[in-house]
Amino acid sequence: MPAIAVIGAQWGDEGKGKMVDLLAEKARVVIRFSGGDNAGHTVINHLGKFALHLVPSGIFYPHTTCIISNGVVLNPVSLFKEMDDLKAKGITDFSRMFISERTHLIMPYHLLLEQLEEKALGARAIGTTGKGIGPAFTDKAARYGIRAGDLLNPGYFKERLSQVLELKNSVITRAYGAEPLSVEKIFNQYMEYAKRLTPHIKNTLPVVEEALRKGEPVMLEGAQGTLLDPDFGTYPYVTSSSPMGIVGAGIGPTQIKRAYGVFKAYCTRVGNGPMPTDLKDATGDKLREIAQEFGATTGRARRCGWFDGVAARYSSQVNGFNGAIITRLDILDSFPVINVCTAYHVDGKTIDYFPADISVLERCVPVYETFPGWQTPINSIREFARLPLNARRYVKRLEELCGCPAKIISVGAAREQTIFRGEIY
Ligand code: IMP
Repeated sequence: MPAIAVIGAQWGDEGKGKMVDLLAEKARVVIRFSGGDNAGHTVINHLGKFALHLVPSGIFYPHTTCIISNGVVLNPVSLFKEMDDLKAKGITDFSRMFISERTHLIMPYHLLLEQLEEKALGARAIGTTGKGIGPAFTDKAARYGIRAGDLLNPGYFKERLSQVLELKNSVITRAYGAEPLSVEKIFNQYMEYAKRLTPHIKNTLPVVEEALRKGEPVMLEGAQGTLLDPDFGTYPYVTSSSPMGIVGAGIGPTQIKRAYGVFKAYCTRVGNGPMPTDLKDATGDKLREIAQEFGATTGRARRCGWFDGVAARYSSQVNGFNGAIITRLDILDSFPVINVCTAYHVDGKTIDYFPADISVLERCVPVYETFPGWQTPINSIREFARLPLNARRYVKRLEELCGCPAKIISVGAAREQTIFRGEIY
């Protein structure tokens, strides 16, 4: 039984939290492979309601090994807070949670530099989550990063920190006129963190390899969404690691049996950047109100709009999805009319592709297909055939646009409010 990947297909917040929790129950290993604590997975299960940012969703299942892999950037303070919150709610066994020694650390200067950069960008700010994610991935690529494994060797850690901080302080003071940070202070702080992190840091590759060799189910838990990918998203309004990048999991492409794209039944986006189906009207407000579309990490109101079939087709294509997971279908229960964007009008032309140039994307006006709503609650339905005809028609159209079958349809926040269509692993 090889690995499956669960990947956000839109701009993040597709409802991956519920899905990865459901699928983690059957997994032997769950790997968080990208992003950092910018992610916010809301999980509601038999143990309560949780907001996970870094801890893999397998933590709720005693038989599951959880890996924070090399594709993640890790803020130790956020991880400890999350572990403490989980402990307060009765999740106490972290002995099966491991951090790859190759995972890069978020350092205090990443948080500071991001604040300074976003402020300097003014109206062109990305609208980041403010967690230092971009500067940490920048350092990884620039080869100034500090990795979790470095904490196990304090001499090397200090030497590296001193070199990097000298460079960072020159930017902090000369470019931004801000106060420099102290090596000693950061060193002591991170040595404290090391005491708690050390039991979790290791070479995680053998754990994954063993599970794959034995044919045990492995789940790659995606964060953010494809349209926030630095290559395929609405650059530069994107995050800094690849939400689709399985290389961050330490698994080769031949090991991935199924890639599931998680699509919300409508669209949302938090932060700045183009979103063709954004509804800046009462319908957008209604979607936001019913769905409570406010960021799990920052609390910001999310922009809401109709399902974007052009973006969906693109997302499916670049990921090679062989299954779709449609979430929050029930949010549309009360809408008399539901629109789906199937093409864009731009500069006198109709196009059916997702433009790379965001100035073009910003001018795109959605071409909508209109569907009659079903106007009845669907939360208690567990079989596709029992969904109202209009809901089935809507899902079928989404399947056509996504180019793959909807294997799971979510009709409510609770785990049981889910329609499965065939085997998932
Ligand atoms: P960063 O990832 O904090 O650098 O933010 C870059 C962009 O990605 C901003 O528009 C954020 O709002 C967005 N973003 C980052 N993480 C998430 C997420 O988990 N859900 C939705 N948007 C996100």
